[in-house]
Amino acid sequence: MTKSTRVPVVILGAGAAGMMCAAHAGPGTLVLDHAKAPGEKIRISGGGRCNFTNMQCDPEAFLSGNPHFAKSALSRYTQWDFLDLVQRHGIPWHEKTLGQLFCDRSARDIIDMLRTEMERAGAELWLRTEIGEVSHDGTQFRLQVEREGRRQTITCDRLVLATGGLSIPKMGASGLAYRLARQFGLPVTETRPGLVPFTFSGAPLEALKALAGVSTPARVRADGPAFDEALLFTHRGLSGPAVLQASSYWREGQSVTIDLDPDGAVLPALRAARGTEGRRGPATVLGRHLPARLAQAVLEDAPLPARLGDCSDRDLDVLAARLSDWRVTPAGTEGYRTAEVTLGGIDTGALDSKTMAARDVPGLYAIGEAVDVTGWLGGYNFQWAWSSGWAAGHAI
Ligand code: FDA
Repeated sequence: MTKSTRVPVVILGAGAAGMMCAAHAGPGTLVLDHAKAPGEKIRISGGGRCNFTNMQCDPEAFLSGNPHFAKSALSRYTQWDFLDLVQRHGIPWHEKTLGQLFCDRSARDIIDMLRTEMERAGAELWLRTEIGEVSHDGTQFRLQVEREGRRQTITCDRLVLATGGLSIPKMGASGLAYRLARQFGLPVTETRPGLVPFTFSGAPLEALKALAGVSTPARVRADGPAFDEALLFTHRGLSGPAVLQASSYWREGQSVTIDLDPDGAVLPALRAARGTEGRRGPATVLGRHLPARLAQAVLEDAPLPARLGDCSDRDLDVLAARLSDWRVTPAGTEGYRTAEVTLGGIDTGALDSKTMAARDVPGLYAIGEAVDVTGWLGGYNFQWAWSSGWAAGHAI
């Protein structure tokens, strides 16, 4: 016989957004997840220390079909509210760089904190639960689920879609939120991998591969803002924070502009050294500003006279221009296998920005990465999960 359970609220997904929502949705809330533990992406985030928010959480740091949509939730539950919660739980934290806040000890501190908050709120968590058919009769949702080898029917008045996006399928990412959104008539915008390394092929790949492991400060720009952070050469192409950021603004076939001298220090240094150290090779001086292997590769690509003193102004200008305006066309990206986030998702036009409720389906909500709101690298995606989860939890 199929067991039946009746609860006021079901949240699908015990990730960052789902747990935050459960902590505010009131007693009797049931959170369902097919994973064996909640918050698995929190656990591996930020190199195991979870970059849980950013001190500069401006709306500009979020990509969406409607750039204004995220503003309401982000201003009602801010980075300072989350930091306050972290401090109330006695979790030690630090700012790493660019306003990015990390746990001192482990990302598990954040998971434990959210579990505690959920328990205090009277929410229940069912793990290893497979979600089957979901239907709605106009007032109630009915879910068929399988748990511990048993089929069960759950009915609820409110249903929250919080199963995230498609990135890292190995960790249990699935398209469930998109599938259910479409089933209930909510449009889903085109999805693609974001915050993802670029891949190359042919001769450009061979050149990049030779530099695998080299990291250098750079300014990287695709079809959006320029990002000043580290760039990393890999065996498959280019990665590092600056590249991941730019990737969210890149479309197949487009070129990417890279400035390997973001401070503009190389040309003045070469000019000055030409007067004082003219007998030295250009590689020596260039190597003071770039990693030695990269300096060597740049000079192989744009040969200069052996001695700096023999270089003309034009020689130095050409070299500086190559450094500051290096253009590459990626063959693609590493895809959802390594992407930190999914761009696109449930169309914000179908949701109320204050409550995250579906406009046309009473009782249905969507939060977190499943929605078409994607943050930059640096704690912004978790802040969106906290803010949207809080907004829905309060509205419920
Ligand atoms: P999330 O993916 O966290 O949770 C979804 C939940 O739904 C999961 O528990 C999953 O098991 C469950 N689920 C999925 N399909 C299901 C199904 N069919 N049935 C049942 N359950 C299902 N962001 C940031 O701000 N700072 C950082 O440091 C990092 N670091 C980072 C590292 C790596 C490697 C990745 C991949 C991602 C990050 N991120 C990040 C991004 C961040 O992890 C992400 O934006 C949030 O986890 C999104 O939260 P959600 O709750 O929306 O989805």
